[in-house]
Amino acid sequence: MARAMKYAIGFIGAGRMASALIRGLIQRGVCDAGEIVACARSEAGRERASRELGVAALASAAEVAASADVLVLAVKPKDVPALFEAEGLSLEPRHLLISIAAGIRTDTLMSYVPDSRVVRVMPNHCCAVLEGAAGYARGNAGEGDLEIVEKIFSATGLAVEVAEGDMDAVTGVSGSSPAFMYMFARGIADAGVAAGLSEEAALRLAAQSLVGAGRMLLESGKTPERLVDDVCSPGGTTAEGVKALAAGGFEGLVSKAVDASIRRSIEMSLSARAPKR
Ligand SMILES: NC(=O)c1ccc[n+]([C@@H]2O[C@H](COP(=O)([O-])OP(=O)(O)OC[C@H]3O[C@@H](n4cnc5c(N)ncnc54)[C@H](OP(=O)(O)O)[C@@H]3O)[C@@H](O)[C@H]2O)c1
Repeated sequence: MARAMKYAIGFIGAGRMASALIRGLIQRGVCDAGEIVACARSEAGRERASRELGVAALASAAEVAASADVLVLAVKPKDVPALFEAEGLSLEPRHLLISIAAGIRTDTLMSYVPDSRVVRVMPNHCCAVLEGAAGYARGNAGEGDLEIVEKIFSATGLAVEVAEGDMDAVTGVSGSSPAFMYMFARGIADAGVAAGLSEEAALRLAAQSLVGAGRMLLESGKTPERLVDDVCSPGGTTAEGVKALAAGGFEGLVSKAVDASIRRSIEMSLSARAPKR
């Protein structure tokens, strides 16, 4: 294939996660839309990528790989084997493959693309509002590659390097946990509505309280316990609520939920098909 135009970053897949990352890169000024290429199988997917994101949209991963050295693998995990087996996508030493496919281990990815460098990232869907939390494992990548990964994922939130063996824990702690926060917000808002607030006011107040509490944790340098103490005055309103949560085993229940996600992630990684070659 003739060498195509060079782009700074190529996205293999142009779905929800790729779109969120692309928006972040553009909004934060890391790249211009004109420096990004993506692919989707369907005409509708390509049309959406070029209309909504302004990026070049191609029909195959091979064309994206011919057009960019830095590749973000953003297809569903179940579609990954077909890319490298049925479609025969092969990468070269110039390529850095940054995979966000959940549950596909770095060594599995490395055996698909033995000649290129691989980094595995677990982002979460809050990157759509530039408040994502991503953990990444460096695979066989070098420091320069990790700077690129940091740049891409810091544009949409927080990026933290972890060991490959900790990626399942990242999946539970930040990949899945936004869903738990939404359930928490629902519980808070329902009580607000029962006490007379409108659904809209209750949800907005609950949501902003989650945002604010997250920022307090990130920026105050205080532990969760210390922050709870800061909010509770003895005999006050918050202390009553905290007592009710403790009586219901709230923290243990939340830990059980995260643990269930981690265990499911381990199961999925183990059952991810090993490459044939
Ligand atoms: N969603 C989350 O919260 C989240 C969090 C962490 C990680 N992830 C990971 O992010 C990845 C993407 O998830 P998503 O929710 O963005 O999926 P999605 O919306 O279904 O997007 C998948 C994209 O890949 C394209 N695609 C699939 N096979 C292809 C192929 N052979 N050649 C070219 N393009 C192909 C699809 O094109 P068509 O639509 O045209 O078929 C679509 O544009 C997954 O691996 C998931 O594990 C997701």
